[in-house]
Amino acid sequence: MPWITKPSGTMKVARRNEPYLTPEIRAGLERDILPRYEKKQGALLPTLHAVQHRWGWLPWQALEEIAAFLGLSPAEVWDTASFYEEYWLQPKGSTLIAVCRSIACECRDHTKVTEACKARLGIDVGDTTDDGKFTLVEVECLGSCDTAPVALFNHTLHENLTPEGVSKLIDGAAAGEHHH
Ligand code: FES
Repeated sequence: MPWITKPSGTMKVARRNEPYLTPEIRAGLERDILPRYEKKQGALLPTLHAVQHRWGWLPWQALEEIAAFLGLSPAEVWDTASFYEEYWLQPKGSTLIAVCRSIACECRDHTKVTEACKARLGIDVGDTTDDGKFTLVEVECLGSCDTAPVALFNHTLHENLTPEGVSKLIDGAAAGEHHH
């Protein structure tokens, strides 16, 4: 999610007592990650990754905790986290649907697949359903051009998709079939 503007003036920060940078995550970073860097600030990307891995996304409070941990300002942490697409600064649905939009999938009508997802979920690309079950995104080539169009449901790749096929997959995921 690059280039989201930060509503600094009006932003309400949700806070909780339990840290996102838990003692376990801290200890793991101090043991395995920080020693690899000359300065601890250098460990920002793996630290963001570790916290996101635990919680699925990076709330603002987590960015503040990471900033304090690494001796950076929260703004520096935000700048970095918002620059890279792999970091989530908003909650992500339990099933992330990532439709490929690169050239081979484009030639095989990936837009119809995306449209079917939007219609079935009632959301736009980039959004999450209100029940927190699905987030829909489009991504670049997933390395399966010969079976285009394709989409990931979390870590499961679905090939030769049709609008009907992807709607059925969504129904299956909504009914609790797991996609890891
Ligand atoms: S273009 Fe879609 S998988 Fe390569």
